Amino acid sequence: MAGSKAYYVTTPIYYVNDAPHIGHAYTTTAGDALTRWHRQRGAAVWFLTGTDEHGTKVARTAAEHSVAPQQWADRLVAEAWRPALGTIDAANDDFIRTTEPRHVIGVQRFWEQVRANGALYQGVYEGPYCVGCEEFKLPGDVIEGSGEQAGALICPLHGRPVELLREENWFFRLSAYAEELLAHYRRHPDAVAPRSAYNEVVAFIERGLTDISMSRSAVQWGVPLPWQPEQVVYVWFDALLNYITAIGYAAEPGSPQAQRFATTWPADVHLVGKDILRFHAVYWPAMLLAAGLPLPRQVFAHGWLLVSGEKMSKSRLTGIAPSLIVDHVGSDAFRYYFLSAIRFGSDGSFSWEDLTARYTAELANGLGNLLSRAVAMVDRYCAGEVPAAGPQSTADIALAALAQATVGRADAAIDELDFAGAIGHIRDLVDATNLYLTEEQPWVLARAPEQRERLHSVLATACEVLRIVAVLYHPVMPHATERMWHALGATTLGPLAEQRIDETGRWGQLPVGARVVRGEPLFPRLADPDPPEAETAGMP
Ligand code: MSP
Repeated sequence: MAGSKAYYVTTPIYYVNDAPHIGHAYTTTAGDALTRWHRQRGAAVWFLTGTDEHGTKVARTAAEHSVAPQQWADRLVAEAWRPALGTIDAANDDFIRTTEPRHVIGVQRFWEQVRANGALYQGVYEGPYCVGCEEFKLPGDVIEGSGEQAGALICPLHGRPVELLREENWFFRLSAYAEELLAHYRRHPDAVAPRSAYNEVVAFIERGLTDISMSRSAVQWGVPLPWQPEQVVYVWFDALLNYITAIGYAAEPGSPQAQRFATTWPADVHLVGKDILRFHAVYWPAMLLAAGLPLPRQVFAHGWLLVSGEKMSKSRLTGIAPSLIVDHVGSDAFRYYFLSAIRFGSDGSFSWEDLTARYTAELANGLGNLLSRAVAMVDRYCAGEVPAAGPQSTADIALAALAQATVGRADAAIDELDFAGAIGHIRDLVDATNLYLTEEQPWVLARAPEQRERLHSVLATACEVLRIVAVLYHPVMPHATERMWHALGATTLGPLAEQRIDETGRWGQLPVGARVVRGEPLFPRLADPDPPEAETAGMP
């Protein structure tokens, strides 16, 4: 696809110091399913994730472990962050770390450019500073004290009053871009989604933007300003740039990396949690305008995963490691659950009971049962070969029509990043097919020799629907669908990942004579529906 624009999806880069939890895995899973879907549409795709590694907290924890910050970050990436991608089967194309030379060089190049364009100036920064965090706080990061602390601003992480500090540093002329940003968002109402996020961003900009300090002198572990190396780039204004530095923003002209930038930027969608929407939908596009770069097509803000009604986070000790769930139900069910049980863009509660109930009803009894029934009957009544269908009955025609309609419906839902909607359409098709088998009763037809043609039609129809279901579910459940593909004898059609969404609705592709393979259940019954200690098992 040389020359054509790649569909470019990003996740936020995760704070390397945190331990991966299901809140992080949630964003990555969504990005992964989205990019796999687009790949199956035949598009060139680029999916980026990575880690945010600068800042005092990283330096301090490294010191506590008597290692250099770089070594500390290396260790966390190798031992926690990269394995976390494997746990959920994320097929990212690249992994950016903010301590990599390609990023550091790019950050310096970018801010040099912005400075040359006249969007930086020197000033005095005065703001709340938490000694515990060793960090300047944004107004939204601090809370009003009460009781003995009444009148003071408190760091919620440390429960202690913050100090007001002053330092000389560099300011970014954010205020200069308010009008241009508003005009952009009015022209592109889809540039921030869902609608509630769009409204929030526009209202925020309409209230007026104030210039913002983009460098820090009190922090050492960061990217030095090229023109004043005693200061480092404020960690957010370093981290946001990963989206361009990873794809070759500062690469040698003419190099393959520079070519990648030309064919990949702007991003089609930045997936972010709603807590970091303002950074992505206000500061980031203003930075890009200041540098003269095109703006991303969309920032999509998803909701929070709540555990016992609270946002899950490491500091609240409710952070659940993805592996805890994957060890229990497998990575496919993990992906299926988080994408289907919570509408993307809304908050949703995680509970083991809900996970277990959906696993059992929708995956084990729904999809898994459909596959094993169909394959077992082809095995038993047709010597293991998918039979030729005879003339279609009304029920066959209706099911085929539903299958074809499902392809379009699911595809349209994915365009809206409505994963739950897309999965709901596919699940409806699975349910309709289970019902079809129950009503057509192939096991009764099998007893009457004169019903042989009808039996064949029913089984061929069910297998053909399963082919379509495997293709549509592949971006969500890569492993289980590979097993379906194999079980249906569909491998002669080519690799599952290469089956095109837009062609899958064409009826009658599973060849007559395809050899089905009986195997272990797709979704085995859970040994222990609610794992002991699961509610409390969290981060150390
Ligand atoms: N490092 C910054 C992002 C920089 S991007 C240029 C950061 N990192 S983070 O690790 O704290 O959060 C990364 C993402 O995880 C955010 O999108 C955040 O919303 C998401 N989540 C963290 N906890 C979450 C939940 N409980 N639920 C859903 N997503 C959550 O912010």
